[in-house]
Amino acid sequence: MIRDYLFDINKIIEGAASGDHEKVLAYSESLARRLESGGELAAAKRMRQIVGKSSASNISLARQGGQALLPVDGESRIPVADEERPVEADVSVFLSEDVQKVVDQFLLYFRAADRLIANGVGISPSLLIYGPPGVGKTQLARYIAAQLKYPLITARSDALISSYLGSTAKNIRQLFEHAASRPCVLFLDEFDALAKMRDDDRELGELKRVVISLMQNIDAMGRDHVLLAATNHPHLLDPAVWRRFAYKIEMSTPGLAARQELIRFVLGRFATAQDVEVAACLSEGMSGAQLKDITENLVREAVVNDQQSVNLVEMCARFTGTSDVAAILRAIRKVDKKRFTQKKLSELFGLSQSYISERLNQEPASA
Ligand SMILES: Nc1ncnc2c1ncn2[C@@H]1O[C@H](COP(=O)(O)OP(=O)(O)OP(=O)(O)O)[C@@H](O)[C@H]1O
Ligand SMILES: [Mg+2]
Repeated sequence: MIRDYLFDINKIIEGAASGDHEKVLAYSESLARRLESGGELAAAKRMRQIVGKSSASNISLARQGGQALLPVDGESRIPVADEERPVEADVSVFLSEDVQKVVDQFLLYFRAADRLIANGVGISPSLLIYGPPGVGKTQLARYIAAQLKYPLITARSDALISSYLGSTAKNIRQLFEHAASRPCVLFLDEFDALAKMRDDDRELGELKRVVISLMQNIDAMGRDHVLLAATNHPHLLDPAVWRRFAYKIEMSTPGLAARQELIRFVLGRFATAQDVEVAACLSEGMSGAQLKDITENLVREAVVNDQQSVNLVEMCARFTGTSDVAAILRAIRKVDKKRFTQKKLSELFGLSQSYISERLNQEPASA
């Protein structure tokens, strides 16, 4: 139990010992939030009172207007990052067993960082997530921040990459400095944007500077901060940057179990277990984003039409792209003949077995 709080307590002690008031304040707030979510409301309140009375807090609040300001690009004045506080209950991510294992280990090791370092086997809490669009890379970053109860600082590649020579490296440095000043998860989303600078007609020297600056900043990052990056194009990354990440996770379109979980999660009370089974079977190869889109639309329609559940044929039509019942039945059978016997299909769709058998034997209409 106490282990849940030890990390922040140690950081507060470190901050106090080195006279770093910002650090004390930032980790006290992090601890107060952690206490709150552990149900220790009185303790959290008391902590905030103590911090609120300290002179350090007044100075810091006056300087920052109550919130650490996000650094901005010198020219465009656009903040180079966004900050959010994902909450565990709001962030669900459905992962394959293999990926979940790596994520769990990453979280476990980060939480145990102090003990690992004390035993000479510290870890570098950096994770690169790669895979095609819409498979949940950004969502996984939010999930990790929510699990750690840390704010998520997401770099905005549009603002980070400055049109002015030398400014991109400066923006990167400011971003890392900002992240270092507080407990957080720093997330470089769409990370390849930096690597893609190669395609621009800017001078190669600038790209080199940016990559070097990036690597220096990653290397200098304290082990008490989590660094995440996500990309659709891992092959565009400089191999030296790639090596900087201790953990790498490849995400792909969800397997059957993850599809079922995601579909069940969105359809909720609007679908039976069997509806979910059929939908999962028909959605092979779809990304999480596509699944979410289809299922959320089905729920929307059910709600506005005052329906208690989604219509099975309608749902299948969304996943197969056809409302022809014969084609839908064939599509289901094609994926899993053993599970979806003619008898089962007849029960599911409320059609006679002879009707089903007739449809299944029908030649598909030529395109
Ligand atoms: N495995 C998943 N679990 C839960 N939700 C998912 C999953 N995959 C996708 N989604 C949902 O789909 C939407 C898009 O996901 P997300 O933005 O995380 O994808 P991405 O991999 O970052 O895509 P891109 O490469 O386009 O940035 C989000 O609403 C997210 O909740
Ligand atoms: Mg993304």
